[in-house]
Amino acid sequence: RRVWAIVPAAGIGSRMGSERPKQYLELAGRTILEHTLERLLSHGSIHAVLPVIRPDDPFWPEARTRLAMFPNLLPEAPGGDERQESVANGVEALNLGTTEDLVLIHDAVRPCIGDEEIHSVVAAADECGGAILAVPVADTLKRVAADGCIEDTVDRSGLWRAQTPQVFRHGELEHALEVARTHPEPATDEASILERAGYPVRVVPGRDDNLKVTRPEDLALAELFLGAR
Ligand code: C5P
Repeated sequence: RRVWAIVPAAGIGSRMGSERPKQYLELAGRTILEHTLERLLSHGSIHAVLPVIRPDDPFWPEARTRLAMFPNLLPEAPGGDERQESVANGVEALNLGTTEDLVLIHDAVRPCIGDEEIHSVVAAADECGGAILAVPVADTLKRVAADGCIEDTVDRSGLWRAQTPQVFRHGELEHALEVARTHPEPATDEASILERAGYPVRVVPGRDDNLKVTRPEDLALAELFLGAR
């Protein structure tokens, strides 16, 4: 079996409040998207990487040129309005005949992913069919009403924060995405799509430094973690 990576990078990053989508902000002289793609493109267990890009994205051609030395960077697929649609477009563009290959999905905005974590989540997917990186919740969780008052404290035992990479058997992912088309709520990660379709997904303990660059204050942290890895 081979491992194919899809990197959804078609979001507009509204929470960052910058003019550029967050995947094109720079860390240590290169865009976040380039850092993320390079980590995957140079990983020994990944066969090829397919980015999903918004049509007419003005920043992509330059980034693509700077990654030209990687023969395993596949032509981009067009992004959709929802993340789920972007991923479905990526799976379609892979056009895999075999159902046994694995598809690894990784957020464009998680540039600090480590080689070892990629290895462990792929190994778990080999065994179980589906696996994701996640970290146990460390903070106390509150349910809060619209007026800012706490309604109750949520038991955090058994609760994990889902990260990416998320890795699935191609055939199962394709089927689950098909099932998800009829679901009213778009999913915020791929594991939930597989869960809804009844497929088992295993959690592999990840690391907090695999952060998702979401808000302006995340940039300095991501730069620090990139340098440390
Ligand atoms: O918006 P959010 O932070 O959940 O985005 C996670 C990842 O999904 C980002 O890499 C973003 O570019 C991507 N995305 C996408 N297509 C969308 C929305 C988000 O590829 N329509």
